[in-house]
Amino acid sequence: MRILALESSCDESAVAVYDDGDGLLSHEIYSQIDLHRIYGGVVPELASRDHVRHLLPLVKTALADAKTSPADLDGIAYTAGPGLIGALLTGAALGRSLAFAWKVPAVAVHHLEGHLLAPLLESDPPPFPHLALLVSGGHTMLIDVAEPGRYAVLGETRDDAAGEAFDKSAKLLGLPYPGGPELAKLASGGRASRFAFPRPMLDRAGLEFSFSGLKTAVALAVKDQGREGGLAPETRADIAAGVQEAIVDTLIAKTLRALEQTGYDALVVAGGVGANRLLRERLAAAVARQGARVHYPRIEFCTDNAAMIAVAGMARLKAGKTESPAIRARAQWPLSELST
Ligand code: KG4
Ligand code: ZN
Repeated sequence: MRILALESSCDESAVAVYDDGDGLLSHEIYSQIDLHRIYGGVVPELASRDHVRHLLPLVKTALADAKTSPADLDGIAYTAGPGLIGALLTGAALGRSLAFAWKVPAVAVHHLEGHLLAPLLESDPPPFPHLALLVSGGHTMLIDVAEPGRYAVLGETRDDAAGEAFDKSAKLLGLPYPGGPELAKLASGGRASRFAFPRPMLDRAGLEFSFSGLKTAVALAVKDQGREGGLAPETRADIAAGVQEAIVDTLIAKTLRALEQTGYDALVVAGGVGANRLLRERLAAAVARQGARVHYPRIEFCTDNAAMIAVAGMARLKAGKTESPAIRARAQWPLSELST
């Protein structure tokens, strides 16, 4: 079976063609980062309009690259939520309409399920069941993944997501949007030991996270250190290193706790923060010491893309979970509602 998949939940317009026998045949991505940078974050209305401009040309390129014609397709998958509602509707409208015109089923995909199943695109996919650490700009969750389609959330953040903590700290340090990768770059030249930022919730039992206190601590450090003539370059780098270390430490401690609790020996790390090098290295080492293995998507499939939506869409298409002709998208969509 072969499907075309669309992703447009935030500021990336992406299209992929995936075949259950031949694997990923093409994937295209257009990032809107340059459009939003001057505003310091994603402007929803601008995002929707830019998706309208780019999605259809990307469909044409993705089909051509995959040497696939509409007649070869068995379905069209699109991200139906959660995300920015206008942005989601552009992809849902296009996906649903193409499916109608080309007389194939339409498949509505949950964005987080896409992130969770992205490692299935790799040559050494994770076994089921496994534990997943989902760390993106909007979510920080530990999830028990029984099989594709069956997810139980074991713990999540009470306030900011890990990616948000990266992004907000980066903003306080005057770094451009999106802050996570910029902060990681700055941190590589800094000393993590100089600032002891809080590791919230570590002293408590359970698998919940909280990152909002970290942002306050960073704001105080920036104010305190910057009193006389702004922050010195090495101080900025030291703060960045301290923040990164605090986030990574917290994520690792709770993940190890969840591995112990579930008894699973495989861990998937999914979502944009999974692109962070320090997290990848430290987690791989810590998990190996516990006798388990980490499975990552390749770096380009950690952040938003359509290849992951194709994989999740294929699983749903095969399970017969297709859409009525209505065009539907959901800004909020709890992951727990997927498992039936
Ligand atoms: O999964 P994603 O692309 O979009 C959402 O669905 O949220 O994740 C984006 C998040 C942003 O907060 C971004 O700053 C963060 O992932 N991120 C990183 C890195 N690359 C992306 N955070 C830390 N280090 C990175 N290398
Ligand atoms: Zn995402």
